[in-house]
Amino acid sequence: MHKLTFLSASLLTLALATRAFADPAVEITVDAGKPGATIDRHIFGQFAEHLGHGIYEGIWVGKESPIANTRGIRNDVVAALKELHVPDVRWPGGCFADEYNWRRGIGPADQRKAAVNTNWGGVVEPNRFGTDEFMDFAQQIGAEAYVSVNVGSGTPQEAAEWVEYMTSPTTDAMGAERAKNGHPEPYKVATLGLGNEAWGCGGSMTPEFYVDEMKLYSRFVHNYNPAQPMKRVAVGPDGGKTEYTEAVMKAWQERTWAWDLEGLSLHSYTTGGWPPAHKATGFGEQDYAVLIKETLGMDALIAKNEAIMDKYDPQKKVALVVDEWGAWLAPTPGTNPGFLIQQNSQRDAVLAALNIDIFARHADRVRMANIAQMINVLQAMILTDKDKMLLTPTYHVFHMYVPFQDATFIPVRFDAGRYSFGDISLPRVDAIAARDKAGKVWVAITNIDPKTPLEFDLAVPGVTASNAVGQTLSAPRIDSVNTFEAPNTVVPRPITIKGRDGKFKMTVAPASVTVVSLEP
Ligand code: AHR
Repeated sequence: MHKLTFLSASLLTLALATRAFADPAVEITVDAGKPGATIDRHIFGQFAEHLGHGIYEGIWVGKESPIANTRGIRNDVVAALKELHVPDVRWPGGCFADEYNWRRGIGPADQRKAAVNTNWGGVVEPNRFGTDEFMDFAQQIGAEAYVSVNVGSGTPQEAAEWVEYMTSPTTDAMGAERAKNGHPEPYKVATLGLGNEAWGCGGSMTPEFYVDEMKLYSRFVHNYNPAQPMKRVAVGPDGGKTEYTEAVMKAWQERTWAWDLEGLSLHSYTTGGWPPAHKATGFGEQDYAVLIKETLGMDALIAKNEAIMDKYDPQKKVALVVDEWGAWLAPTPGTNPGFLIQQNSQRDAVLAALNIDIFARHADRVRMANIAQMINVLQAMILTDKDKMLLTPTYHVFHMYVPFQDATFIPVRFDAGRYSFGDISLPRVDAIAARDKAGKVWVAITNIDPKTPLEFDLAVPGVTASNAVGQTLSAPRIDSVNTFEAPNTVVPRPITIKGRDGKFKMTVAPASVTVVSLEP
């Protein structure tokens, strides 16, 4: 061999060896014989607030609209959401809920009373989309209703009458009013939020004041529909501040027959600082690393609150409900900043997968979560522009994870290794696994490293399988997005890995999310 050729061949071998040494294949072992808690399908819940184009344009276009709709609710959005098996939708807010006057949003269209949306952009809230429209929407997509009542500016009486309107039989005057408005059958309200962020936009209440208020709502807001038990969720911690967790859980432990709770809310956004200034597109690896690091902090935040809850509720009767989470980025330039419109990139897909994995690992306590928000607001599933609609990378993650809904968590062992950028050091890989009701094992693997492909060897001892089949979601760049002009830049593609010697060997793209099932 020529001297130079030999030298360059040696250098190449050395380079490959160094690379192999730096990034060895990750051994992922699924302990299928050690089942854990059920991953409640409600951790895949959504949040739709009267904010920007979340409701109007995103869901509601009106019966007269040229956009195809069913009773005013756009058909394309409903069809897309049905694919996600959305377990529940939290509505009408958010901050909006604590000023919401439900009476303005019922009855014939010409009797609806407009209001100013004081929280979000000061725009006119026409109240065309009210209780009956929300229930119709939830029913069309097959989701349960999670209704947040007004504990801020409202009264227990108003909230009680609202739930009476929704759930009572027609022999009750409120039920009769509902029937007059077109729905004789009582609605099902599966979850009731007792206020929203009472420590902030919901009234700046001290924990003690809130607890006293909350008890009144828990006591007097009755569910009249025996076909649907109604869970009550109290306001929980203010970010890392756990005073509300302590106060609510202590009160719960000392509760009397007169009131109860089934959930405690936790809100945590990935913002990279306040006010949110991280760009939704056109960002680099520094932004990626900063936000992924922050989002991984969800695990410690949950653990911190779980420890307090365990103290007062060791049997884990009260669920931790992460009913607002996701990336909150700088608003899209040129849009109303009060509308919280932001694009959604491959980074957000990775961020979503990591949060879902964290919720699944805490499945015994975290039994509900609602990403903020469903359409056109913050980390949305769907963006719309008049008659056009696109599915975001986050939508695709939720779709890929559908098999994890109500599946049994299975522990996974792996040495994650490290991905580093500057002084930020993160695990390089994340993975969870579960067994669905039909007995099939599913594994989700996220390659956090945005530059280096991930090679892994997946082993599932005790499970006979010859193929791992599923989908992988990757993108040309970490800031790749889907646009109305190019809606398929970030879409999952199918994969099949042939097993060999009981292992499934695969290499996935940088910053990617992969979900596979083990097939015979
Ligand atoms: O999702 C946007 C807002 O964030 C909600 O209205 C509020 O609860 C939270 O602060």
